[in-house]
Order: sequence, then C-alpha cells, then structure tokens
Amino acid sequence: MHYSELAHRLDCSSSEAWKTHDRAINLQQRGEDVVVLSIGDPDFRTPDPIIDNAVSHMRVGRTHYSPALGELNLRRAVADYETRVSAHPCDFDEVSIYPGVTAALYAVMSCVLNGGDEVVVVDPWYVGYAPIMKALNVSVKFVPTHSADRFEPQFDDFVTAITDKTKVILLNTPGNPTGAIIPRQTLHKLAQHCARLGIWLVCDEVYSMFTYEKPHISLRSAADTLDNVVVIDGLSKSHAMSGWRMGWAVAPVSLTQHLGRFSEMSTFGCPQFIQDAAAFALNNDEYYVADMCKAYQARRDLVCGILGRVPKINYIRPAAGMFVMVDISSVESDDKIFAENLLDAELLSVLPGSAFGNALKGYVRLSLVQPEEVLQTGCKRLEKFIQHSAAK
Ligand SMILES: Cc1ncc(COP(=O)(O)O)c(C=O)c1O
Repeated sequence: MHYSELAHRLDCSSSEAWKTHDRAINLQQRGEDVVVLSIGDPDFRTPDPIIDNAVSHMRVGRTHYSPALGELNLRRAVADYETRVSAHPCDFDEVSIYPGVTAALYAVMSCVLNGGDEVVVVDPWYVGYAPIMKALNVSVKFVPTHSADRFEPQFDDFVTAITDKTKVILLNTPGNPTGAIIPRQTLHKLAQHCARLGIWLVCDEVYSMFTYEKPHISLRSAADTLDNVVVIDGLSKSHAMSGWRMGWAVAPVSLTQHLGRFSEMSTFGCPQFIQDAAAFALNNDEYYVADMCKAYQARRDLVCGILGRVPKINYIRPAAGMFVMVDISSVESDDKIFAENLLDAELLSVLPGSAFGNALKGYVRLSLVQPEEVLQTGCKRLEKFIQHSAAK
C-alpha cells in the first residue's frame, strides 16, 4: 500500500537511541534483575488529591468534549501560574492546552513553520524534537555547547547560527539531559535579537519546577517584549503525571487563535476531568512539587557522591532536572558500545549521550527516576563495569 512522505520521513526513527533501553525492558520482562536508568518517566505516584479530584470530576459527568483551546478554568490556572513565575502578567487568552508538551510543541511548530524553513536548536537536544522537525520537513542548525560552559549555550553562537531562513529558535531550559539552565542575560539578549529579526523564540520549560540551588528562569521573565515568545510547559515531570498527558503553550493571542484551529482538526480538545484535575494541581501543588524536587535533589547528591569516587570517569552535576551525565570516554570512546556492554555485563541500562547530539558523545545518561536503593545498586554496577574495563 501507499504511505505518505511524512510517514517515510518518520520511519528513520530514533530507535538507535533506544536500542539498549528496549533490550533492557525485554530482559526485565523475562525476569532478569535489570536496573533501568535509561528513561525519564517519574517513579513517583501522582499525588492522591489530584487523582481524587479527577475521579470526582469523572463521577459528576465531566466526560464530554472540551473547547479546542482548553477549559477556561485550566487556562486561567495556567495564566495565574505563568504570572507568578514571570515578570509579565499572563492572560488566559494567551494559553492553549494539549495532551502533553510534545503535542504542544508539534502544534506550535506546525503553526509557525513551512517545509524548508530553518530551526536553530542547541546541541545537545532532547531526542523527541528530531521527529517533529522531520514531520514538518524543516532543516535544523545546531548551536554547539561545551562542558567548560556547563553546556550552557552562548549568545554569540546563536547569532552565528541564524541565517535568513531561520524562522524559529527552539530552547529547552532547564535542559534535558544536562540540566543546564540558560542564564537570564542570554535569554534576554536572544529575545531582543529575535524580536528585531522577526524570529520566533520557543522555549520548552518542562523541567521548570525541578531546579536545585538556583531558581528557574522563564523565557517570559527574561524577555522585554513577548510578541515573538512562546513558552511550553506541562505536568508530566513536575507532578509525576506523564501518563495523564497534560501540557500547555503560552503564546501571543494571534498565535493562540491559530493554535485553537490546529487543535480543532487534530486533538479536538483534551478530557475535561483531566483538565479539572490539572487546574487543581496547579492551584494546590506547592507542597507536593517541593517534596518531589527535594527527593530528586537528594538522589542527585547520592549519585554524584558515588560517581565522584569512581576512577576514570567524570560527571555533570545537574543544576536541574532528573538526569546525571557521565563522561565515560576514557573507558570507551563509543557510548553506544559502552551502553550495550554495560547491559550485557552488569544488567544496567543507561542511554548513550550521542542520542542527544554531538556535544555528549562519550557520555551516558543516568536517570534519577528510581528510589535511592535502586540508584545505589545501579551506581555500584557501573563502578564494577568500569573497574573491569580498566583492568582489561
Ligand atoms: C525536554 C522535554 N520536552 C518534552 C518532553 C515530553 O513531555 P510530555 O510527556 O509532556 O510530552 C520531555 C520528556 O522527557 C522532555 O525531556
């Protein structure tokens, strides 16, 4: 049968990145004692009051179609939240609701890009962005980052990457996988520069609620004007609600109206009871989110403490997010081979850094989404593997 060009473009998928992880899950399903540190799905349960809220709304019949842009109650809760974290007040008519950040990104990109346009992104980038770029048939220019700068992108490198075909700069702060927080000054200068050039600045802030020593800096708070600014966020990570599929975009009203029409022909709105529970979560979340944030910070400190004692490797102590990147290049230059051999030898699954771009070749990613005992076991297995590899 016949398939579309889009289907074919998506066919060269990111399966290579997930090869070790997929094998680890297979082994686990066969009963092997695999430690899986290769995925970023929070292990915490969604807080009970949020679950109760969704159930009670389901029971009273909030199970019907919802407006394409989202329920007013949730759009208002998001607008209040964005107003709290940014210098610019946010109104509900700048907010649109999606089944997750990925869907929000795809909708926004679809409404501002044409095939052949250029998007500037930071290397390393989140693996989920590549298929969106492929689907829309746009080309990608990378801004390099370096360990010496803690993988924070530099303003001048954005200026160099921009061409007359650039229509969007896509940022991710705090970033997956390094946890890098883009400094306020870089965001500010970039926003000014892009506003002058008429380039959209889109920022994925899905890790915004998990920053450790320093606070999150929202693009909306760093920019002087918001005519070209889009902030995307959601509850997948912050509220351990990955499976609920809940995200939003905050964009100028004119773009939001286009986004509404996009949602009308694609998702046709999100479930009412999930939006009710999401609004409840945003209005009553501080205690739960703060607890989870503290737990991730303690896990980070535990893992970094263990890794600091392992010879031959370096690691990035993340300022935010739920991942630790480990530089294994002095043990094995090919991170994919390292990840495969580690799984075979020690039943520990990690993600090769090269899946995220050139900047992280020679690294592997460890997720912090497991209880401390499991992280300890994982780190011990990593240490044993490195000792054996070094002894060879
Ligand atoms: C940077 C980043 N953006 C988006 C997503 C996906 O978010 P969602 O599950 O809300 O689609 C992830 C998930 O790992 C991520 O790391």
